[in-house]
Amino acid sequence: MKKISQLFLWEENKIITNNNLLFPSPETNKKIPILFRDTIPEIPSTTYGSFGIYKYPAKFIPQVIAYILKKYAQPGMKIFDPFAGYGTVGVVSRVYNYPYELWDLNPLITTIHNTAIMENPKANVVDLLNEIKKSKKEFLPNWSNLKYWFPEEFLEILAKSWGFVYSLDEKLRYLFLIPLLNVTKYFSYADEKVHKLYKSKHSKKKVEELLKKDWKSLFYCLLEKEVGKLQRKLFENALLKPHKVKYKIKSGVDTLKEELDSEINILITSPPYLQAQEYIRSTKMELFWLGYDEKYIKELSKKEIPYHPVPEVEIHSPTFFHHREKIQEKHLLLLYDRYFHAILGTLSRLGKKVTNYMCIFVGPAKVRTISIPIDDILVEHLEHLGWKHEITYIDKIVARVMFESKINPASGEKDDRIKTEHLVVLKKD
Ligand SMILES: C[S@@+](CC[C@H](N)C(=O)[O-])C[C@H]1O[C@@H](n2cnc3c(N)ncnc32)[C@H](O)[C@@H]1O
Repeated sequence: MKKISQLFLWEENKIITNNNLLFPSPETNKKIPILFRDTIPEIPSTTYGSFGIYKYPAKFIPQVIAYILKKYAQPGMKIFDPFAGYGTVGVVSRVYNYPYELWDLNPLITTIHNTAIMENPKANVVDLLNEIKKSKKEFLPNWSNLKYWFPEEFLEILAKSWGFVYSLDEKLRYLFLIPLLNVTKYFSYADEKVHKLYKSKHSKKKVEELLKKDWKSLFYCLLEKEVGKLQRKLFENALLKPHKVKYKIKSGVDTLKEELDSEINILITSPPYLQAQEYIRSTKMELFWLGYDEKYIKELSKKEIPYHPVPEVEIHSPTFFHHREKIQEKHLLLLYDRYFHAILGTLSRLGKKVTNYMCIFVGPAKVRTISIPIDDILVEHLEHLGWKHEITYIDKIVARVMFESKINPASGEKDDRIKTEHLVVLKKD
């Protein structure tokens, strides 16, 4: 069903597909529609293998990176993502045999990446789960709000499970960390349907219902299921035959201040989309259970783009100023300015050490009802600095076409359900 609507959109845009592999010609137009997810037959779905072990907000689909590497990279080139989030750029770089460097403010990247690239350890999960039940080791996070997020009853089983997992050697520990994070969240008052950490009516009811059941058995059963799921994902990942390549990860770094030690060849990134997400807040519960302390987590939150002041840079984009004029409210104007000074300043600075391409993926962003073409602003600014705009690929989030348009209460207009994500490719001139 989804396939049919995708094909329809493709025809509408007069795009020719060739055996499912699509390399549009840049000569025809600088903006070209594409369905990245259909371009890479060797990666059969967006959550295949290690690409689907954890739900990180605004995660890249692996096919975008695979497409870039297949079309623009040469053997031996070094790939870099300064806003790496889940670390998808690293996992894909392994598949195509490229060394890479990843940075992110969110320290979660270390746990996700170490899990994503691990070899499936030989382990008897049932035996290990039985050991948890008998474990004398305990761990609880140093979190002033712990009792707001968890009913007293669950804390004992959580403390034992985490204590046990932390006592395992590294290989086995990574087999349990993400599964246990997922089960821990399920046993909390957090609403998993909402990205931000949020206690809702629905999630309070979930905990009430759990307490009426044999929740201990359910806890171990879910944990076993989650570990099994991870093992299947690692098995799928091995089928992609990833290479052992050189890599570097800097987690907990503020990309706005960090410098590259040496030149890199291709920068591939997806920076935050204006004020769309608060990544640290969304993953705060995970960070506490992973042992990060409250003061550190608070400090990280303050560094997120666009929530803290940044040095101003000269912006070379008429589109930036055109949209700026339409924003009335002071606090929104402040966010708009901070966002672009942060992103444009950082990419201009880091771009000096990029030898070949910068590929920047940005999603839909609005200030109130005003759509902001982040991609056009990036292109105008970076062209002024000497980068050559090769192409912008426009990827449609096709599934949404299936739903009927609704009226947006803020604008009173029909909601534009066909959202797009844009990949800007710039070449060093
Ligand atoms: C759109 S997400 C990137 C997602 C990534 N492409 C993936 O595949 O998961 C943007 C990332 O920027 C990070 N970020 C926000 N402010 C930052 C800062 N000042 N320094 C470094 N990273 C930052 C967030 O933690 C988030 O992971």
